[in-house]
Amino acid sequence: MNQTVIILDFGAQYAEVIARKVRECNVYCEVLSWRTPLETIIAKKPIGIILSGGPNSVYATDAPTISKQIFDLNIPVLGICYGMQLMMQLLGGKVIPAQDNLSREYGKTITNFRNQCLLFKGLPAKSVTWMSHGDVVEAIPNSFKVSAYTSRCPYAGVYDEVRHFYGMQFHPEVEHTKHGKEMIRKFLLDICHATGDWSMKDFLVTTVERLKMEIGEERVLLALSGGVDSTVAAVVLSKAIKERLICIYINHGLMRKNETEEIKERYKQLNLNVHYVDASKEFLKALAGVEEPEQKRRIIGNMFIESFVGKAKEFGGVSYLAQGTIYPDVIESGSINGNLIKSHHNVGGLPSKMPFKRIIEPLAILFKDEVRKLGLELGLHEDFVYRQPFPGPGLAVRIIGAITEEKIAIVQEADAILREVIKKRHWNMKISQHFAVLSNMKSVGVMGDSRSYHYTIAIRAVSTSDFMTANYVKLPYSILDEISRRIVNEVRNVNRVVYDITSKPPATIEYE
Ligand code: XMP
Repeated sequence: MNQTVIILDFGAQYAEVIARKVRECNVYCEVLSWRTPLETIIAKKPIGIILSGGPNSVYATDAPTISKQIFDLNIPVLGICYGMQLMMQLLGGKVIPAQDNLSREYGKTITNFRNQCLLFKGLPAKSVTWMSHGDVVEAIPNSFKVSAYTSRCPYAGVYDEVRHFYGMQFHPEVEHTKHGKEMIRKFLLDICHATGDWSMKDFLVTTVERLKMEIGEERVLLALSGGVDSTVAAVVLSKAIKERLICIYINHGLMRKNETEEIKERYKQLNLNVHYVDASKEFLKALAGVEEPEQKRRIIGNMFIESFVGKAKEFGGVSYLAQGTIYPDVIESGSINGNLIKSHHNVGGLPSKMPFKRIIEPLAILFKDEVRKLGLELGLHEDFVYRQPFPGPGLAVRIIGAITEEKIAIVQEADAILREVIKKRHWNMKISQHFAVLSNMKSVGVMGDSRSYHYTIAIRAVSTSDFMTANYVKLPYSILDEISRRIVNEVRNVNRVVYDITSKPPATIEYE
């Protein structure tokens, strides 16, 4: 049965996070802009509608809004933060700016719940929620009752059980709200009566169908990096349009030891239509002497575009460009809140250089663990699907300072040893990402009877579920010991190994 929940996005920071939580409850959902015409929403026959948060004030001129008729469709509605305030205003309540600092709430807030309301039934009467609002609901419409309150906010939760309208001033979708996911699940299963049996298989079927419709008989270009994201995107696309998907793999010379050969073999087995470009010499030349991380990233991004466009010109009449962008790339590149952390080279750039009709990003709403599930669904090998991520700019962001062929060889060898030991000791599935970094630091050592003055290798091993935050892994000393001994013995020009014990934040996972 096709059961869809619509999330109307009012510019929320967390709209896709809501979508993810809904999918985790095995319910299909789509995020649509608040501007979507009511007829389009009705045509999707949603079993529930979620109104997201947003940065505006509902009473401001030009504030995002929706047709009031949405409340006449006999479809359950859940309003979150701005979404709740909008629902209150449209149905006859009143929203005002918080009068004083006391009625504004930001952060973790103890909230009291009335569990007569289905959303909170069976949950503790008091728990922590995440609040982030400068406006408050001053009066609720007559048909509504209060379902939650805090010491500062009398209307932290409201509901109209006859019409199945629910509002939460707090954000149930974020981890800081203790029972948030259960509340969302109750809305979906107990109020919208979702069956909760949607799976990645269904995502695959609907995505392939959608891609077929959107692309028609046209051809699509895709840049393969060898990683999980672009490979999964390619396999999904090739299911939809077969050999009309043209893949280009650019070797920038900054891959791990033996990686390009392994990648070529994998693509052969997946029957992908791949064209290879060896641009390693050009990349190294462009990077010579460059130390500043963002400049390195920019150069690699630009060189990548240049090589890609150069190769792509050989294929006339290609309408679309596809990318394996996933949701965290979109967030960290500042596309949502304008706050750049690192410029991920797989977002943006290419389209302005080529006359593509559009970019296709089949995985843009998925988080990493969801992409992995999809990969397994596509029959990709487990070893590959759980392969740790590797950044687009490759070893360039793992060599501090200027890049040389010698430094690439050093970090490749050290990294290969690290990975071999971790795998042999069965720690690779316990770690989300582990790699060696070549610091730009040389220090004095003693080897045999002579003084050495060589590089330091840093070992990084982190565990994380979403790569937005991460903890360093507490590797046993015996493993660190084996890694350190082997690296200093087997890798030339390295005489010191250190273990990085910093989490993200404040550090990032990669060094540059
Ligand atoms: P950071 O260093 O930002 O990394 O904590 C988070 C995750 O993203 C990967 N990463 C990249 N992936 N292109 C990518 O495809 C990039 O430019 C890039 N930079 C970082 C990183 O390996 C980690 O998994």
